[in-house]
Amino acid sequence: MKTMTVNGTVVHVEDYWTVLDACRFYGIEIPTLCHYDGLSPGGLCRLCVVEMGEGERTKVATACNYPVAAGLVVRTDSERVVRTRKVLVELLLARCPSSKTLQDLAAKMGVQRVRFTAKNENCILCGLCVRVCAEQMGAKAIDFAGRGKERRVAPPFDLKSELCRNCGACMYICPVCQLRCQGPEPPGVVCGACLNLEPVCLKENKDDEGSGVKCL
Ligand code: SF4
Ligand code: SF4
Ligand code: FES
Repeated sequence: MKTMTVNGTVVHVEDYWTVLDACRFYGIEIPTLCHYDGLSPGGLCRLCVVEMGEGERTKVATACNYPVAAGLVVRTDSERVVRTRKVLVELLLARCPSSKTLQDLAAKMGVQRVRFTAKNENCILCGLCVRVCAEQMGAKAIDFAGRGKERRVAPPFDLKSELCRNCGACMYICPVCQLRCQGPEPPGVVCGACLNLEPVCLKENKDDEGSGVKCL
């Protein structure tokens, strides 16, 4: 057991916890996108940033893969943290504007406009699909490929992998595939939620015979 400070309150934490574990245990909300209980931490979306340290010597770090330490001082709601998260959400939303998960997150965080050019990608490179495939399904049918701007998730050689079990876990867990906003509703429509029931990727990824789910 260790002792650290979160938002000015001294708390006791288990030695093996991350800062995110500690905050969640004490009911402190931290937004996450690439974290999923039961999977190894990815540290890729950066949304879980918190400020660590005191005075002028502070740093911003991701909570989901930062181990707790005795005497650690953490702020989860400082101006710097809030500003950083908002810019990150803007960048992610510019990359995948149709993701309802991202839209909801942006709305919750008070992000009302995106200053970056929309790219209409289908992936925020959070790595959840890669990790669930390897760590929970034991398949390792997909992985990151390419570098820099070309980085993407793909099966080996971009061919449907023999290792894929068609389990659908990668699409289930994906924050971009799960729910797609279908655009502005006509006046008078109360709720467009039903439009989100079938993930677009299920329609687009039929196998060659038109049935089943094709690997990413
Ligand atoms: S559908 Fe295939 S690629 Fe996706 S998680 Fe399952 S085994 Fe992996
Ligand atoms: S396909 Fe989805 S789950 Fe996989 S890295 Fe991209 S956004 Fe994340
Ligand atoms: S949830 Fe921590 S970096 Fe994504």
